[in-house]
Amino acid sequence: MIEYRNVRVALLGAGSVGSQVARLLLEQAAELAGRAGAGLELVGIAVRDVDAERDVDLPKELFTTDAESLILGADIVVELIGGIEPAKTLILQALSSGADVITGNKALLASHGPELFEAAEQVGAQLYYEAAVAGAIPIIRPLRESLAGDTIVRVMGIVNGTTNFILDRMDTLGESLDDALAIATDLGYAEADPTADIEGYDAAQKAAILASLAFHTSVPLVAVHREGITGVSHEQVEAARKAGYVVKLLAICERISDDDGKLGVAARVHPALVPLGHPLAAVHGAKNAVFVEAEAAGDLMFYGAGAGGVETASAVLGDLVSAARRHVIGGPGLAESNHADLRVLPLGSVSTSYQITLDVADQPGVLATVAGILAQHGVSVETVQQTAGVTRGDEGPATATLIIGTHRARESSLAATVDALTNAAVVNSVTSVLRIEGA
Ligand code: HSE
Repeated sequence: MIEYRNVRVALLGAGSVGSQVARLLLEQAAELAGRAGAGLELVGIAVRDVDAERDVDLPKELFTTDAESLILGADIVVELIGGIEPAKTLILQALSSGADVITGNKALLASHGPELFEAAEQVGAQLYYEAAVAGAIPIIRPLRESLAGDTIVRVMGIVNGTTNFILDRMDTLGESLDDALAIATDLGYAEADPTADIEGYDAAQKAAILASLAFHTSVPLVAVHREGITGVSHEQVEAARKAGYVVKLLAICERISDDDGKLGVAARVHPALVPLGHPLAAVHGAKNAVFVEAEAAGDLMFYGAGAGGVETASAVLGDLVSAARRHVIGGPGLAESNHADLRVLPLGSVSTSYQITLDVADQPGVLATVAGILAQHGVSVETVQQTAGVTRGDEGPATATLIIGTHRARESSLAATVDALTNAAVVNSVTSVLRIEGA
C-alpha cells in the first residue's frame, strides 16, 4: 500500500455542490489519492449554520462557522459559497496564505477576476474555476491548456440551462415562457432569483469568463452586451421552426476587427436563430454546450450538464486532483493569461445577420421601399418571404407579412436599418428582429 502525503482541503459552503464535493472526497478518498499522488484530507467545512439540513449526511465534526481559522490551516481552499462577499475576502485570505483556491463562483470571477488572479500570482498560488462555467462540462481546462497552442476565433455557447429548458419547451411543447419558467423553478434549475437566468445576467458572467480565457484578454462583465429571453414570443419560436431555425440564448465571444482593421474582442448574450442543422440546435432541455471555433483545431463542441450538485462537483473534484498534484510536484501555479490585451469592442463592431419580420401595407412599391431602406444602410438582403395579405375591409388597406433575411453586416448598420424600417410609412410594425448565428 502506497503511503501518500496529505494535502489539507478546506471547503467553504455545503450547498448542493459543496455537500456533494464533501461526500465524494470522503467516499472516494483512496481512489482520489491514487490519482492525485496525495491524500485529499477534508479538514473542515465552513458554513453559516452547522445545524442546517443538507442534501447529504456528513460527519458533524467537520462543520464550523469559523471560515477564517479553517483557511489558515489549509493547502487548498474550495469556495462554493457563491456571491461576492464574503467569498471574495475569504478567497483573498486563502491566496495570501499561499493556498490554491478552487471556486465555482462565476459572479465573482466575472466582476473581480483580475484582482483574484493578481493575488494568486503574487504568491505563486493557482486559482482553478472549472465549475464556474457550464457545470460539469470541461471547458475551462480545454481553453486554458488543451487549446493553449491554437488561435480561437469564436466561442458560442448555450451556458444557461434554465433558459435553454424554457426555450426548448416553448419550441417542442408550445408552452408559454411563464409556464416553462415555473417548471424550471420547481425542478431547481433556475437561480434563486430567476432574473439572473431569464435576463441573461448568468450567461453574461460566463461569457466574460470565456472571452477572457479564449482571447488572453481581460474582458470585464460591463463590456458584455446582454439581452435576455423575456421578449421571445411564442410566435417567434413557431416562425423560427417553420423557417428552419430554433431560438437559443447564446453567449458569443469573438475575435473581430474594428472599423480600422485593428484586432479586438467582443462578447454578447442574446436570443438568436440557430439553423436546425447546427450542433447547438440539438441541445435540448437544461443541457449546456459550448461550440469552439479554432484556427487549427476547427470546430469543437463540449456538451453536458450545465448545473446540478453532483454534476458540478465532478468539475470541482477534477480541479482538486490537479491542485493536489501541483502541491506534490511544486512550482508556481498557472497565472492568468492576458498578454494579448486586445481592445474590447462594443456590439456595434460585431458582424452578424438579422431576420426581420415586418407587417407592411400590401401596395405597389412597398417591397421596393423596404429594399431601398436596407440598401441605404449598406445591408444586403439574402432572402425575402411574403405571406398572403390580409384584407382589413373598412379598417384600412390590406397588409402583408414580410420576412427578410439579411447577409452579414455590422451590427451598427443593422440596428440603424431596423430604426429606419420602424419609422417608414409603409411599415405598420416591425414584429420581430432576431440575429441569426451559426449559419
Ligand atoms: N441557473 C444556472 C443555469 C445554473 O440555469 O444554468 C448554473 O449556472
